Amino acid sequence: MTEFMLLQSDSSVAQLDGIKPNHESGSFQKRGHKMRMLSPEEAEKLAKDLVLVSDFKQQKLEKEAQRNWDLFYKRNSTNFFKDRHWTTREFEELRACREFEDQKLTILEAGCGVGNCLFPLLEEDLNIFAYACDFSPRAVEYVKQNPLYDTQRCKVFQCDLTKDDLLENVPPDSVDVVTLIFVLSAIHPEKMHLVLRNIYKVLKPGKCVLFRDYGLYDHAMLRFKSANKLSENFYVRQDGTRSYFFSDDFLAELFLSVGYEQVVNEYVLRETVNKKEGLSVPRVFLQSKFLKPQRET
Ligand SMILES: C[S@@+](CC[C@H](N)C(=O)[O-])C[C@H]1O[C@@H](n2cnc3c(N)ncnc32)[C@H](O)[C@@H]1O
Repeated sequence: MTEFMLLQSDSSVAQLDGIKPNHESGSFQKRGHKMRMLSPEEAEKLAKDLVLVSDFKQQKLEKEAQRNWDLFYKRNSTNFFKDRHWTTREFEELRACREFEDQKLTILEAGCGVGNCLFPLLEEDLNIFAYACDFSPRAVEYVKQNPLYDTQRCKVFQCDLTKDDLLENVPPDSVDVVTLIFVLSAIHPEKMHLVLRNIYKVLKPGKCVLFRDYGLYDHAMLRFKSANKLSENFYVRQDGTRSYFFSDDFLAELFLSVGYEQVVNEYVLRETVNKKEGLSVPRVFLQSKFLKPQRET
């Protein structure tokens, strides 16, 4: 399926990676299972990236992950990411998973940041109750201060998804949809399964996790210098926040190992063309849906 559309969310992701969003440019989008082909120069650059950040620095980054994200929000307050109004359009599940029209949905925005995904959802769909969490205390505070924050419709709490039990704030088997949007990439690959296991406990059987994140060979991955490489497909930015770039196979294996079933798992390839500068920026995202199976009867 080929679509032509501009996604606001992708331009804020571009900013996070130091890629200047260009509003004069055109872009197109393609979805599918084929990963992006590298040019010979790009393949050579990646093949030469053999030096890894020292173990000492890697351990420090892991220890300070929460602090680094909190400092990110201290520097940027709520102004960094744009609201993600695409979510309901992209993930029709949010509407489609209702068994009847005015059924109330319970969602969990895992790694909600300052609410750029959460608040548009609450505004666009009045029949949603949302749990939202993030490990940055500042981000959580910004969500609480948002004029749209209403405790009748929303509960935000601080939680490190790799170690704090979601069951302390969310009842077991109670959530209809979990959104995991550009969050797993920020987590060490060896701890990603802990996040998925945590989420599994609160998801209703038969319901889904909606995932969107960086895909393998995204332009942001190719811009990293070798001094910023942590491990295969895993890099650190200047501000200490980290980013993993997912292949569809890696993600599928990760979800399946925790007990989910795959529904959709495809690359979204976007080529943004800046005609003035003659530049083409290939963005790659992975958009997927994984289901917690119904209990055996
Ligand atoms: C790129 S932001 C995405 C925010 C939001 N989902 C959105 O779409 O706007 C990534 C978020 O993940 C959060 N995060 C990273 N690691 C986390 C962890 N272990 N537990 C909870 N949140 C985490 C960060 O604090 C940050 O707010």
